[in-house]
Amino acid sequence: MDKFRIRGGMPLSGELPVSGSKNAALPALAASLLTAEPVILRRVPQVRDIATMLKLLEYNGAEVERRADGSVRIEARRIVNPEAPYDIVKTMRASSLVLGPLAARAGRARVSVPGGCSIGARPINLHINGLEHLGAVVHQEHGYIEAVAERGLRGNTVHFERITVTGTEDLMMAAALAEGLTVLENAAREPEVVDLAVLLRKMGARIGGEGTSRIEIEGVKQLHGAEHEIIPDRIEAGTLLIAGVMTNSPVTVTGCVPEHLQALLVKLRQAGARVEESATAVRTEPVARLRSVDMTTEEHPGFATDLQAQFMALMTTAAGISFITENIFENRFMHVPELARMGANIRIEGRQAIVAGPSELTGAPVMCSDLRASASLVLAALVARGESVLDRVYHMDRGYERIEEKLRAAGASIERIE
Ligand code: EPZ
Repeated sequence: MDKFRIRGGMPLSGELPVSGSKNAALPALAASLLTAEPVILRRVPQVRDIATMLKLLEYNGAEVERRADGSVRIEARRIVNPEAPYDIVKTMRASSLVLGPLAARAGRARVSVPGGCSIGARPINLHINGLEHLGAVVHQEHGYIEAVAERGLRGNTVHFERITVTGTEDLMMAAALAEGLTVLENAAREPEVVDLAVLLRKMGARIGGEGTSRIEIEGVKQLHGAEHEIIPDRIEAGTLLIAGVMTNSPVTVTGCVPEHLQALLVKLRQAGARVEESATAVRTEPVARLRSVDMTTEEHPGFATDLQAQFMALMTTAAGISFITENIFENRFMHVPELARMGANIRIEGRQAIVAGPSELTGAPVMCSDLRASASLVLAALVARGESVLDRVYHMDRGYERIEEKLRAAGASIERIE
């Protein structure tokens, strides 16, 4: 298993380019199952979760072509296997994003129930309830959810009792081919949801209200092919921005959408960081010192839970006490004991972490546990005195494209040990 060896204390400089968004590309790839015509997606990041989704689409019967320019062409002329098998779903929960498209296009879908996840229970009951509202008959057996709608789905109003990102995306895709009007209430407003709506409209879907908590979809009989560029990855952009602030370096995070990062930018400024936005970039400048601020994770446009661990790493180097509250997932503090191994002072009380700083972090061997926890350990190692070795970086590879190359190009001492 690959490891990262990082020597801390190196200032960064220059540019940190952002790749396409993993969490926008995954539903966009699933949406290609809604049509028999080719869908071409540009700026699809080369990360492990994308490779898993492409494997799943091929299993469903789609022809998949990865092109040299980074774009992906998918053509699902026929749905051969309307199924997401356990072997694939167990490696990536987002495989459940094919449930809606398969049920809508093939009239049936069989998806393995996603197992446990290190950050929380993460059931998909809201996806299932939503599909049942659209007329699917859903039952669970032998670890699989089977959704059947032989005469097609019918539009209806679905009120999400809790905001769910992939639940909203799954139902948007199912409703696009349902008969009549679907209204999604208390829908997610994440930029990835908006990007999916843009793609679906290019495919001929009649959809409106994305970016608000009420999305309306008038179903159509058929969708056609389309070409679409995936939005930049705001979580990667936030991670690289925090790398700049934490190492107190003059760097520019390029190819991002600052508007998608507002909650983070507000907190960085409150902490005393100097961050300047331009149309497609954010620049950090060195400052004398950072002060602690409190933060609570929320659904968009609130502070993203996928940046919580990285922000906590930053707060270990800031002066004062920071209260960090995780509201989205019930078990998303796996990075805390590893940061403590590097000398951080953090106490957990239920869903709150209390961070006392500044701590002088020192390099140590640490273990990655999930995608974003890994990112927080990379950030801590960049400022720690001495060398850190991060084990199980395959977690990082799930969602960050060539992160060590990007950081090294900006001056970090980081290498991958195969
Ligand atoms: C998406 O996951 C992202 N994944 C996650 O990013 C992200 O952390 C999360 O949204 C929140 O922003 C992708 O987009 C592929 P949710 P998702 O459904 O859709 C509960 C990363 O690091 N819930 O919005 O699975 C759930 O347990 C990943 O890139 C139900 O109870 O998250 C959670 O507590 C990690 N029943 C809350 O709602 C359901 O049916 C929000 O989950 C669905 C969700």
